[in-house]
Amino acid sequence: MGGADTFFTSANGPTTEGGSLPKNGGGNITWSHVQVERIDRWRLMRQRGGVVWFTGLSGSGKSTLATGLDARLHILRRASFVLDGDNLRHGLCRDLGFSSSDRTENIRRAGEVGCLMAEAGLIVICSLISPFTADRQLVRESCEKRNVSFLEIYVNAPLAVCEHRDPKGLYRKARQGQIPGFTGIDSPYEAPESPDLELRTDLNSLDECLESVSRLVLNANAYDEGV
Ligand code: ADX
Repeated sequence: MGGADTFFTSANGPTTEGGSLPKNGGGNITWSHVQVERIDRWRLMRQRGGVVWFTGLSGSGKSTLATGLDARLHILRRASFVLDGDNLRHGLCRDLGFSSSDRTENIRRAGEVGCLMAEAGLIVICSLISPFTADRQLVRESCEKRNVSFLEIYVNAPLAVCEHRDPKGLYRKARQGQIPGFTGIDSPYEAPESPDLELRTDLNSLDECLESVSRLVLNANAYDEGV
């Protein structure tokens, strides 16, 4: 335990002219320390928290894999939680659309929440299209800065396969021009160049994919007295 007696305050923030403070509080916000060390939270959970990030086209199988992984971890008595893009857009991200800047903000929020939940000790399974490399990289950096593991899982199925599956009928609508800026149709998807794991959901069964991702996650988030 520790940290309670260290008090940090920053007086050196940016100043503004014209009276309005920048959104970061103009240097008038300080970090509030807690008394419970993260290692002690993780010890209590008997696991390391971490972020498992599924990225891929709509219809590639992200949500199926995310919920499948969550269920497997639960059976193995690991504490996990799914943050799904569609679901977050009903609440935390309900003010965001699908412009590039809104998607960037969407990923930033999901990443920040995921990282906080991981610091609390959960294995957080994030499932978002997250089409831009730079946005995913920012989440990775944010996690790694806080010493939280970040695993990027590329859920890969060719566009033609995703479009054929079309589980929500959205590709059909997009082709008819009813959803402008649909990922893969008229909005880009930047595939990860070096993901921690790539799952070809058109070539491998759901069970095979779940097996490889579970192995990776259990290894990365294994409890170890030395963490
Ligand atoms: S992301 O691009 O910002 O990462 P996110 O994963 O949150 O997207 O949401 C994607 C979901 O929103 C899709 O599964 C689909 O159901 C829905 N959706 C609605 N409009 C679009 C669009 N223009 N592009 C992609 N998905 C869309």
